[in-house]
Parts: sequence; structure tokens; C-alpha cells
Amino acid sequence: KARSDGASVGSRDHMRQYEVDDSDVYMTSDVAGPIADMVSLKAGIRGSTLLEDFILRQKITRFDHERVPERVVHARGAGAYGTFTSYGDFSNLTAASFLSEEEKTTPIFVRFSTVVGSRGSADTVRDVHGFAVRLYGNFDMVGNNIPVFFINDAAQFPDLIHSVKPRPDKEIPQAATAHDAAWDFFSQQTTSLHTLFWAMSGHGIPRSFRHMDGFGVNTYRFVNDAGESKLAKWHFKTQQGLASLVWEEAQVLSGKNADYHRQDLWDAIESGHGPEWEVSVQIVNEEDVLAYGFDLLDPTKILPVEDVPLQPLGRLKLDANPVNFFAETEQIMFQPGHVVRGIDFSDDPLLQGRLFSYLDTQLSRHGGPNFEQVPINRPIPSVHNNNRDGQAQNLIHRNNRPYSPNTLNNGSPRQANQTHGRGFFTAPGRTAVGNLVREVPDTFSDHWSQTRLFYNSLTPVEQQQLINAIRFETSNVESDGVKRNVLTQLNKVSNDIANRVASFLGHDALEPDGRYYHDNTTSGVSTARERLPSI
Ligand code: HEM
Repeated sequence: KARSDGASVGSRDHMRQYEVDDSDVYMTSDVAGPIADMVSLKAGIRGSTLLEDFILRQKITRFDHERVPERVVHARGAGAYGTFTSYGDFSNLTAASFLSEEEKTTPIFVRFSTVVGSRGSADTVRDVHGFAVRLYGNFDMVGNNIPVFFINDAAQFPDLIHSVKPRPDKEIPQAATAHDAAWDFFSQQTTSLHTLFWAMSGHGIPRSFRHMDGFGVNTYRFVNDAGESKLAKWHFKTQQGLASLVWEEAQVLSGKNADYHRQDLWDAIESGHGPEWEVSVQIVNEEDVLAYGFDLLDPTKILPVEDVPLQPLGRLKLDANPVNFFAETEQIMFQPGHVVRGIDFSDDPLLQGRLFSYLDTQLSRHGGPNFEQVPINRPIPSVHNNNRDGQAQNLIHRNNRPYSPNTLNNGSPRQANQTHGRGFFTAPGRTAVGNLVREVPDTFSDHWSQTRLFYNSLTPVEQQQLINAIRFETSNVESDGVKRNVLTQLNKVSNDIANRVASFLGHDALEPDGRYYHDNTTSGVSTARERLPSI
């Protein structure tokens, strides 16, 4: 059973060396001198306070600096420890050692989040939800509970987030009150429609963190020891069952218990009912990147499991709560760039931008380059390189020759390379050749077919809930032009959806826009839709 002090829990053992036990001690200053800090030092009992009072100054200074910047997105979240257990030896697919033998376990930390709200915002607002998994080693799979994303180029990310964050003048969330900016963006940047539909469905208001799936969204690569690579899409299937709130419940809960999801996760773990997910991948041969009617480098598309079934790899189980929210849940720095040998990236332009963004933002969140030394971020294997100094350096490096190549430190740390089997962080078969362009490929062009596919996959009740959500949100849009643009885009998905929203908004019915009512017109991809077995 998990305990709130984490004391007896195996999956959190590697953190125990950093814990501080204050249970039976005298108070000290930050440099260990015995102190009493409740009354300041004064000249006379009623006299003025002395600048000399280092105890007061230290206490107040430490307090003044307790806050660090919250995450620029996904600021609101909760996390827990657990384990990943591999179902078998998958070395035919990947050299990743956490997948190298049956029943092999790896300690993990998982953080769930909403995207838009600030650290103190309510849990049950409608949003995409973060699903970030760290396997200590360190491999981070920084995913979401919705398998697609709003945009397919990182250059659009600041625009997306500016359109949904609070309005600059009022600091009132635009997605919660006056929705003009968000819907203006969604109806112009039509790559967002597919994800928008998922977010307007029950997936936007999950029942709890335990009741949602996770997805890698971007396409990654698996590389095996022979250097062979395949495209891979990550899936985390909840074993608690997928479930959502209804909108009315979500609204009431936001008022009655803004910590509803956080508390649910904490309580489930404390009572010994930590949640579980089955981890799977969809594996696709490199040459099939365009074989399914769309481009696998486009993160606004799902790869239907009817086309490429899930290959189960193992199980995640959460079993221990953090001991200190700030030190653990707040200071964890997930990065898509935290990969282990055997995992590689694809050329997905969103993923490529993410590889820059997380490291960059974490430099300001932590205030310096040594955040990987914070306990929650330390990989369990030891770290050896020539990175040195910087704010808050925690380590005392003995090597006086911090450069490579060297002969004076026995050539160490030595470069990992293929000859002794440590290479292949990058699939050897990857090539990159082309003219320099600033253009979106034609193979990313269809934004409406999969939006319709998703809508058609819902039951009539779920479809009505989705329409009700769009009705509610767009009825809070003030601009008539934005409303008309939204209806125009809905009409490209389905005339029925557009008219059910239009009637609610008091707009005239729209004529069907037949140019868009087809399965897929993404140009430049295989029309044969060869469904070759991939594995
Ligand atoms: C957090 C950027 C797309 C999932 C963040 C953070 C940034 C960021 C700056 C804050 C990180 C921190 O302070 O530690 C971006 C950019 C994107 C993008 C530039 C697109 C170009 C995505 C996508 C997903 C995703 C597609 C899902 C697959 C997450 C999650 C977190 C996060 C789960 C929270 C991690 C945590 O719990 O600490 N993102 N993001 N992001 N992002 Fe993204």
C-alpha cells in the first residue's frame, strides 16, 4: 500500500536519499546554526528592527523567492510515481532497454495536466489534457489525452496559445467567457478542427485522470540494434475504463471542488488503487509513411487502429504519491528530447519545434542550466560529460580535463559509437535532403475528413453533447464575423452539424458544401491505401 510519506514504496525508492527528516530536531539557519526565528532582533523591546538580523533577513528573503515561473502551458497538473513493466523482449523493434525482457520493471513518474489554465485554475474545465510519462533512464513520452493536435507546425504554437490564454487587457480567460479569440483562431487555422472536435466531446472533460487514455500524438521512430528503424505512434490505454463528465457536472465541480482531479488521483493511490494503463505502439514501415491516405508526419491525423493495430508493449501502474509537490511535481522537467537509445524522432514539423521548446522554457523556469541535477530530474544511471559550472551547480567534478578529445584523462569520458554498440540514437537510415522552403506540404492539406470520421464514430448522444458544447462556446462569441466563419468550417465537416449550431445561434441555415464531403482528398499521398501488415 502506498503511504503519503512514500516511505515503503519501491517505485519511489530512488528519491529517498534526497528527503529531509524534520521530525525530532532543533531549528537551524540555512547554514545549520541553531536559531529561533519567530521574533526579530530590535534595539530595545519596542525599538526599531536591526538590519543586522540575518535570521530575519534570511527567512524573509527565502520567502520572497519561493515562487518560480509556472509552466507557460500545462501549468495546472498533478503527478505520481509508479512502474512500467515490459510484456516481453521487443529487441526486434527497438534497442530501448526498458523493452528488452519480459517482466522488466522501470521506475516512472507521470504528470497529468490541463493546457490553458494557470497553476491555481480549476481541474474540470474543458481542455486538452497532458499525459507526460517519464521512465527513469531518462525517457520522456510527453503526450496528451487526445491523439491529435491543433496545428502541424511549431511556428503556430505561440499563436494557438495566445488565442486561448486570458485576454491581455482583462486577464479573463477567453476560452471560458468571451470566446472570440479562440474561435477566431480555430475557424481560420483549420488544422485545428479535428482536435477541436475531440476537445468538444467528452474527451475534453474526463471523469478523472485515471479515466483517460494517453497518446504520443507525434510520430516517433523505433530503432533496433541492427540499425533498422520503423515509425511508431504511442498509445496508453486506461485500464479503469474511458469515462467523461457531462458539462453540467464539470461546471458544478469547478465551483465545488477545483481540485477534483488532483484529489481523485491522490486518494486512489493512498487507498492502494493506483491506476494502470496498457502501453502500445502502432508500428509502420518507413516506406508506408504516405500509405494510409494522409501523411504520418502530420500530427492532426490519427492512424486508425483498423489500418494498423496496436502492438501491446507493457503496463504502467502508479503506486506512490509525491512527498513534496514543489520538489517533485512542479520541478519535473519533461522533454520530448529526453530519449534513450532505440527511440528516435520523425520529421514531423511540430515535434521538431517541441524538441527546442521544452529545454528552452525550462532554462527560465529553473533559472539556469542545471535543472537536470534536481532530484526528480536525475536519471538513475550516472551522468558523465564535459558540461560544467552554471547557476546552482550541485556536483563536484573531479576531472580536470573537461574536453574531448583528450589524452590526459585517459580519453574519458569516451564518445559512444557504433563499434561498441552504443550508437543509433539517430536511425542510420534517416536522410534529409531538399531545397529550403517555408511551405506546408500538400500531404497535410485535408483538415475536414478525419474531423468528420471522429464525429461519425460517436454515438448519437455523444454527438449531441459535442454539438451542445459547440453551441455553448460559440454563443459566447460576440463577433458575428467569427460566428459565420465557424459555421462555414462546420459546414465543411457536415451540413447537419453546421445547421444544428446555426439554428441555436439564430443564423440562417447553410447550403451543403459538397466539395468537402468525401473520405479524404489529401493530395500527394498514396491513393492505393495499401494496408500492408507493418510488423
Ligand atoms: C508542456 C511547448 C505541443 C504535451 C509544454 C511546455 C512547453 C510546451 C513550453 C512547458 C514545459 C515546461 O515548462 O516544463 C509545446 C510546443 C508545442 C507543443 C512548442 C508544439 C510545437 C505539444 C503536443 C503535446 C504536448 C503536441 C502532446 C503530444 C505537453 C505536455 C506538457 C507540455 C503533456 C506538460 C508536461 C508536464 O507535465 O510538465 N509544452 N508543446 N505539447 N506539453 Fe507541449
